Amino acid sequence: MNEQFYFRQLLAGRDFAVGDDVATSMRNFSYALGDRETGDAILVDPAYRPSELVDMVTADEMNVVGVVATHFHPDHIGGTLTGDQHIAGIAELLALIEVPVHVQAEEAEWVKARTGVSDDALTLHHDRDQLDVGTVAVTLLHTPGHTPGSQCLLVEGRLLSGDTLFIDGCGRTDFPGGDTLEMYRTLSERLNAVSDETVLFPGHLYAPESFLSMGHVRARNYVFSAKSQEEWLAMFAS
Ligand SMILES: [Fe+2]
Repeated sequence: MNEQFYFRQLLAGRDFAVGDDVATSMRNFSYALGDRETGDAILVDPAYRPSELVDMVTADEMNVVGVVATHFHPDHIGGTLTGDQHIAGIAELLALIEVPVHVQAEEAEWVKARTGVSDDALTLHHDRDQLDVGTVAVTLLHTPGHTPGSQCLLVEGRLLSGDTLFIDGCGRTDFPGGDTLEMYRTLSERLNAVSDETVLFPGHLYAPESFLSMGHVRARNYVFSAKSQEEWLAMFAS
């Protein structure tokens, strides 16, 4: 265990944004991670009450030096949900503190359209880019399928997967930008290099566990049961 590694998994509606009905029903996880020695920390998917998340990290004597967006959906980075319902997120966070927002290059246009943030606010990344938070190295994996520029974070034996992969199931592919075949390639190829010992930390609490090793996830999650592309597509067609 690396004691220098700072890590918090925070459930919207329970650990922050308490009393927010949308947050409570959506069951999103935000994450804070960083280097306890340098005090640098980043927030992953800071939606609903970004100011509370900043305050929580600050109370831990850490500084928020950046944000990573796993994908553009408003329950992760803020913006307007169906109808007129607005969720606070990166735009509100940037009004409080000036930090880079790290997004996958192919997600940038979607992020701007959904949140109204400018090009200047975004730092674009490609597959396998390394992001240093103090001395903590985060590898960003491009994992399209749920959205074109979805990305997962690989850090200190953990995979923060956004809506790409849940403990049970995976992200929907029927929203704009979703691609069922890309999701198959992500699960069967792009995430292959992630070891069974790596612990999955998803973007939503959709299972009894909040986190689980990839070995257990691969053994029990039906999305890993398809043996071919044809089998996968047939599974989604039914
Ligand atoms: Fe999503």
